[in-house]
Amino acid sequence: MKQIINVTVSAQKQDFSKAKAQMLALALFSDSIEQTAKQLDKKVPGIAAVVKLGDFKGKSASTTLFYTDKGDSKRVLLVGLGEKDKLTSDILRNAAATAANTAVSSKAVTLAFAIPQEQTKIDTVAAGRLIAEGIHFGAYRYDEYVTGDKKENGRIKALKATILDTNAAAVRSLSKGVNTGDIIGHSQSLARTIANRPGNVINPPSLAAVAKQVARETKGLTCTVLDEKQLKQKKMGGILAVGSGSATPPRLIILKYRPAKVKKNTPIVGLVGKAITFDSGGISIKPSQGMQDMKFDKSGGLAVLGTMKAVAELKLPIKVFGIIPSAENMPSGTSWRPGDIVTTFSKKTVEIQNTDAEGRMILCDGIYYAVTQKCDFIIDIATLTGACMVALGKYKAGLMSNDDELIKNIEQAAKDSGENVWHLPSGDEYADEMKSEIADLKNIGSRWGGACSAAAFLGQFAGDKKWAHIDMAGVDLFESGKKYAASGSTGYGVRLLTAFVQNLCNK
Ligand code: BES
Ligand code: ZN
Ligand code: ZN
Repeated sequence: MKQIINVTVSAQKQDFSKAKAQMLALALFSDSIEQTAKQLDKKVPGIAAVVKLGDFKGKSASTTLFYTDKGDSKRVLLVGLGEKDKLTSDILRNAAATAANTAVSSKAVTLAFAIPQEQTKIDTVAAGRLIAEGIHFGAYRYDEYVTGDKKENGRIKALKATILDTNAAAVRSLSKGVNTGDIIGHSQSLARTIANRPGNVINPPSLAAVAKQVARETKGLTCTVLDEKQLKQKKMGGILAVGSGSATPPRLIILKYRPAKVKKNTPIVGLVGKAITFDSGGISIKPSQGMQDMKFDKSGGLAVLGTMKAVAELKLPIKVFGIIPSAENMPSGTSWRPGDIVTTFSKKTVEIQNTDAEGRMILCDGIYYAVTQKCDFIIDIATLTGACMVALGKYKAGLMSNDDELIKNIEQAAKDSGENVWHLPSGDEYADEMKSEIADLKNIGSRWGGACSAAAFLGQFAGDKKWAHIDMAGVDLFESGKKYAASGSTGYGVRLLTAFVQNLCNK
């Protein structure tokens, strides 16, 4: 699929003072910054003055842009990395993202990125991956529907980024990491673009068409789509109920990645992503304020689609199934309604008390489908509850699970990917709240702990499988632009789930 800004990243053996890029980004530690600046000033005049003025101290996430007419790169961006022995993956990734974001905003089409001081905390292959992931993240823009002058004058079409190092062995290691980071970065940008598209463009059938196209373009990946007739035959009552009010029918999108070679007894990973292409709330309609953001209610599904593309391109030696139930939740004369009793794919019946609690009604069929496909681990990801956002804010997703080791592994993947999670409770007490008097379950619990009772509802469809739930409400979207990223979809989940699968392969 075509990228909006065509971002390419590579590593090159070159001294940064010889770089002929339209922007040179130097990532600097705060340790002995004045001394460093004096040395660097011989190569890029101006740095010593900037530091002497106190305008740049090397603090993590700080930046100073200055202009010089001495070297080949007229724009020089200093990006702080903080103290050397406190460097983390996040700091490095964000520094690269900030550099790329600034380059795109400055309309620089070439970016050279270098870390002139020696750094020892992060190995060079990992550094290559982190910088590449960061460059893709920061350079990303969404403006497909901007027309006319604003677009033509507005932004560059491509960004060519190069990581510079004078050591040949380091360049080889960086390149290795860049290959991985490039794949993950592209996959995340794809997820962001489709998530950013509005509800009148992305509906369940058009989302399915996108998934099919991604599978066609990706070796090892297949895509099957169940349409409304097939959903009826299979009695997937949850997905059908949620889609019943919309003029665009629901779909179940099934992506399968089967590597050329897999060791015996390797587990199958099942990823299930909520893709409500627009959540009006249905008959239990939402207030109008902020309703436009409910086009992002498909973000869990896109986290799964992006991850499937990444794991296939990385050729990871493990089977991964991506299951994306998709519907549009609308009120109409044909829609589901409060009071309905729905028979789900698992045969469990659910009394509907609120049509705005629709995510769990499509996920329960998706999760049960993963059970029938004999997945050993099932992870679902969804913009599921406002309650999770109230509890955790916009920096961490909620994590609930029936398995302690799975929790640990997802927490590790969160550390590696910089996509954070926070473990929240779920289990019997919360499950009790979801019991109905006239059906097996109801679709809402009490007023309190809504993220936890929603998870407890889902857990009942995973049978005896190891299952985890990631509630990504809140982390799906930047409401305004950041120093390291544009506003809109964050693509959350692609890096997290890819890291989870990668780590599983390295065990
Ligand atoms: N898609 C929403 C959750 C959401 C809210 C995501 C805000 C991102 C930002 C979900 O379908 C929903 O409406 N949940 C209800 C559940 C309630 C009716 C039990 C909620 O959170 O209010
Ligand atoms: Zn809803
Ligand atoms: Zn929803």
